[in-house]
Amino acid sequence: MSVTDEIKSRIDLVSYVQRHVPGLKKAGRNHKACCPFHNEKTPSFIVNPERQTWHCFGACSEGGDLFTFAQKIHGWDFKEALRELAAEAGIALRAQTPEQKSKSDRREALRGMVQAAADLFQDRLQAGDASAVRRYIKEARGLHDETVQMFQLGYAPDSWDWLLHSMRHLGYSDEDIVEVGLAVRSEKGRVYDRFRNRLMIPIRDERGRVVGFGGRALGQDDSAKYINSPQSALFDKSGLLFGLDMGKGAIRESGTAVIVEGYMDVIQAHQAGYLNVVAQMGTAMTDKQIGLVSPRFASKVVLALDADEAGQNAARRSLDVARQALSRDYAGRLSVDLRILQVPAGKDPDDFLRQSPAAWDSLVAGAQVVADYVIDTEAAALPENSSMQERESVALRVLPILTASESNLYKQENVQKLSRRLRISERDLLAWTRDKLPAEHSAPQRPPSEDLPPDYWPDDQVAYPVEAGELSELSRSDVPASSFDRRVNSALEPYCLSLLLKNPDLLYLVNRKLRELAGDDDDLLRGPLCALGVDDFTQSQYRMLMAHLQESMAQDDREPLEYLESMVGADLQSEYQALLVEAPEAVARSIRRSFQVDLNDIFRRRPSRTGPRSGERDELINRALQLRLTRLENERVELQYLQEEAQSSADVDQRQSEQLNAKIMLSMKAKARINQAVSRHSLSLQQSSIS
Ligand code: UTP
Ligand code: MN
Repeated sequence: MSVTDEIKSRIDLVSYVQRHVPGLKKAGRNHKACCPFHNEKTPSFIVNPERQTWHCFGACSEGGDLFTFAQKIHGWDFKEALRELAAEAGIALRAQTPEQKSKSDRREALRGMVQAAADLFQDRLQAGDASAVRRYIKEARGLHDETVQMFQLGYAPDSWDWLLHSMRHLGYSDEDIVEVGLAVRSEKGRVYDRFRNRLMIPIRDERGRVVGFGGRALGQDDSAKYINSPQSALFDKSGLLFGLDMGKGAIRESGTAVIVEGYMDVIQAHQAGYLNVVAQMGTAMTDKQIGLVSPRFASKVVLALDADEAGQNAARRSLDVARQALSRDYAGRLSVDLRILQVPAGKDPDDFLRQSPAAWDSLVAGAQVVADYVIDTEAAALPENSSMQERESVALRVLPILTASESNLYKQENVQKLSRRLRISERDLLAWTRDKLPAEHSAPQRPPSEDLPPDYWPDDQVAYPVEAGELSELSRSDVPASSFDRRVNSALEPYCLSLLLKNPDLLYLVNRKLRELAGDDDDLLRGPLCALGVDDFTQSQYRMLMAHLQESMAQDDREPLEYLESMVGADLQSEYQALLVEAPEAVARSIRRSFQVDLNDIFRRRPSRTGPRSGERDELINRALQLRLTRLENERVELQYLQEEAQSSADVDQRQSEQLNAKIMLSMKAKARINQAVSRHSLSLQQSSIS
């Protein structure tokens, strides 16, 4: 029997799971509970006593045996699980190989060295010349003696070799002292102390063993505020949380871990009695760090972000942390209730705790769900009467973050929130995640028809005749037809613009068509059926090019194309050239694919400046109408939102409501006319392709 089998035969999985999942209940031959690895309300976590296996049929859809369960619930790797479970089962593991033995002996020796250094620093803090440091700790930082003791704070004096001498005196070699990062060897081979004139903060691993140091500058002119131990076999900052050794009990009891940025924040929190606070020490948060607290101890993790005076910068940095948290999908993948706590203006947790320790609890309780935080922060920057374009650019910034989760439910919730906040339909947001965002950002999506309530689909939308005419290339796709509409629409902009830039005169044709559709209805003519313009395009580069095109048509000093060429600045050149050179369909395709147009590739080819092919003209008109249709639909959704909002407010503004309604009706009227024109066109195309 192998060791693992031996262990499994001695530890019953059901009772082991029961210890960690108190809700486990017998149900028929199995036991079931709400899965400990993700949030759920109805149990989908099953333990099978006969086979000694477990499985989550819910969001995790994972399972395994005693070892996988123990690893997952404790955050152990296999080796750790083996060691711990063997000990629990009372089984002696085979002795280490001599090689393993010497390796672990070595680590033990290095650890002893770091601990010795911590003792030396601590001792040095009591020396006569450290009185200024002691004052700093007491007065500037407000720390009590017990706190200083508990964290074993110390002092590295202003000397190049004080520690070196002391360590040598204890019998350690220069080599080892350098290896654990307490000293540095210069290029010339000279060895000197790494930490000089610094307040020393020992960093401990989860078991409370000192593995490294953070050294806080005391002098004004020190280059770095903190110097930390360098990465070594002993010290890996990315796998440590400062304060976890002292905080894990409180984290387990409260079920919540608060992760702050700095050493001082933790120390202050502990002094104030909040022990469930740990620090990620200013690095980017890692999976490993989150894994240290959740799911093993905490189901809820609160990230507390500094709000430095730097204001703007700090907010952006906070956002980065939140972004990072979402894009790593800690919440979705690790099943953590992840929250963001924004410390009020100009403070970090340390300052806040010193000023109003009693308010900390309610600050933590008010932490926001990460997605809400990101949406709020980004949307808060929008002006009061933000345009569709402004809101769209926010959406495009935020969407990849909000949809990075592996959990569909979570993703959908986030998109819903964004939709409500920005007054952009979910359908559009989902379409953008597919079309406008670079591929690596958008997770594979099901077509929106399945994800969305049916009322988001306008009943009057005409499906574009996919196989018709020369555009069939565009449609070659294994995506179901429902999502196809949106894909074509996103290609519409470059397609139309490409044709218009090559043949500016075609703009007159399009506008004539729009006028024709408006008939003698002035409201339509000035409103939803006005001349094609900048607002028919959503992407900024196309909007700018369209503006130039309109200018070129409005002047008559030069040929429109010549004028255009002189107007288009360097920033737009590559887009412009691409639109000029490529066949319209190809432009649409390549731009959709990469967003990056290879300039060299384009200059190698010659612009095609032949006039529009027959059929191309009709096609353009038709496509331009669809472009308008898309715009109207977007606007209608917005209007609808406004209408709903207006209706739900306490004192309904009757006049505003009527105005909105009139706009909606007008927009629908315009759409109906365009639809008729478009379907007539597609019919004729179909007929011509049959004949
Ligand atoms: P902060 O700059 O917020 O420091 O960096 P702090 O904790 O508020 O420090 P005080 O209150 O000014 O003394 C947060 C954390 O980032 C790491 C440290 O772990 C610090 O606690 N850090 C910061 C460094 O490692 N090096 C630095 O130069 C600065
Ligand atoms: Mn601080």
